[in-house]
Amino acid sequence: LLDIDIHGPSIPKLLHIEDKLITAHGENMLPVLVGDNLKVISMGLMSRDHDAAIIWRGPMKFQVIKQFLKNVEWGELDYLVIDSPPGTGDEPLSIAQLLEHPDGAIIVTTPQDVAIADVRKSISFCRSLQLPVLGVIENMSGFICPKCSEVIDIFKSGGGEQMAKEMGVPFLGRVPIDPQIVQACDTGRPFVYHNSNSPAAKAFKEAIKVLSNLNVKENL
Ligand SMILES: Nc1ncnc2c1ncn2[C@@H]1O[C@H](COP(=O)(O)OP(=O)(O)OP(=O)(O)O)[C@@H](O)[C@H]1O
Ligand SMILES: [Mg+2]
Ligand SMILES: [Zn+2]
Repeated sequence: LLDIDIHGPSIPKLLHIEDKLITAHGENMLPVLVGDNLKVISMGLMSRDHDAAIIWRGPMKFQVIKQFLKNVEWGELDYLVIDSPPGTGDEPLSIAQLLEHPDGAIIVTTPQDVAIADVRKSISFCRSLQLPVLGVIENMSGFICPKCSEVIDIFKSGGGEQMAKEMGVPFLGRVPIDPQIVQACDTGRPFVYHNSNSPAAKAFKEAIKVLSNLNVKENL
């Protein structure tokens, strides 16, 4: 898992490894190991000062992203999942230019028009860079009231699906707002593992199923 969010890396916190550090191995870096099958690289694992701001322009970000790909002893991987900050700026541009044979991009949006407008640009960005769009996920799609189970569409609902249709890209599903996701993220516990019967976990699993049916690897 490669976190290329240079200015606001969240992956270390989400995985509860914020006190771990990337180690040096000769000229190279060794990723932080989570469990026995997940290797992680993130700017947040370069220093213990979690409040320090990274004040960098594009060329520096390009260099560090390049090092995260080429100077890390990743070893043999099944998948390299890259978490990018939103938008069409330096980080997504750097990674899209540096990856040699990416399977594609997964785009996450929220349902309201203001978010969708930006995400449409992200899809155009992928097209310009010949990066296939594997699909769109609509996050924060409705809130199931814990008291009466009524669904409340806080950020509206369905906007991501409609946009995916209009732009001709696969739709991977809707993830509702679930306070347990906030809890899991803040304590670094895997939400789907600990809340596997919740509607949100089912949505995650459904999206994974759709993605694995795409046979991404075989289509290379
Ligand atoms: N479906 C959800 N239900 C409840 N909380 C959520 C949900 N999705 C995200 N969150 C909360 O919002 C936080 C940020 O989410 P996430 O990391 O996915 O945002 P992001 O789009 O990557 O943000 P950034 O722009 O900072 O990269 C999560 O840590 C979690 O607390
Ligand atoms: Mg993020
Ligand atoms: Zn209610």
